[in-house]
Amino acid sequence: MEINNRPQYSPDGRLLRVGDDLKHIAFIMDGNGRWAKARGKSREHGHTEGAKAFEKIVEYCEGIGLEVITVYAFSTENWKRPKDEVEKIMGLLEKYLDRVIARLSDYDVKLRFIGSKNELSESLRLKIDKTERMTKDKSRVLNIALNYGARAEITQAVNKLISEGRTAVTEQDIGNALYTAECPDPDLIVRTAGEQRLSNFLLWQAAYAEFYFTETLWPDFGPSGVEEAINAYYKRTRRFGAVK
Ligand code: FPP
Repeated sequence: MEINNRPQYSPDGRLLRVGDDLKHIAFIMDGNGRWAKARGKSREHGHTEGAKAFEKIVEYCEGIGLEVITVYAFSTENWKRPKDEVEKIMGLLEKYLDRVIARLSDYDVKLRFIGSKNELSESLRLKIDKTERMTKDKSRVLNIALNYGARAEITQAVNKLISEGRTAVTEQDIGNALYTAECPDPDLIVRTAGEQRLSNFLLWQAAYAEFYFTETLWPDFGPSGVEEAINAYYKRTRRFGAVK
């Protein structure tokens, strides 16, 4: 790959801007519950702090010039959690959308929700539609995976192609029928809180992604954590199956 812009650093080695070879980071935001438990607080409190960390990280990623960020906010399996916890996460999302709408000119982020909207409450669905509409001309993309599962995403993509009358499909056809069709694949996938698995997140898109796992719990994983992950990414050699 031709790299026109290399990452830029300050004289003391802080990352100022990512290069052309890092456009998209996806985050599996794990560890809110453990963070709260360690402090004798409720899981809901952990999610409140997780949402704060998320906002700081989105702002930081925008500042260093990333084109796309994707976060795993709620999986199709997360409905199995206690009702209060599910309501808390949905409530935090609604509040975040209210803030985005209220401060539209402060953010340069196009919001997109990936996942099935059918099971969401009507008020959240309406707010999602409104925010997606109001941010559609912004330049950077924030994908929020909500009620998302990668196998379901691939299945709906194939069914969409079948309903269009296709009898054979290419990899490109499938990519174009996924929720993330307009985004480059993630270059880097970060998972916090020690687990080293994808948990049904971006299975198709992750084909050539680099992975970064850290023991740090999500509420503690701020911009400095992202910077460390990016520094680790730049130490890797990506070959995409070829020989360097
Ligand atoms: C995983 O931690 C986290 C989630 C399932 C929810 C993530 C949600 C947020 C960070 C808040 C969402 C809000 C916005 C605005 C995006 P866990 O609860 O599984 O943690 P544990 O493994 O320690 O129990």
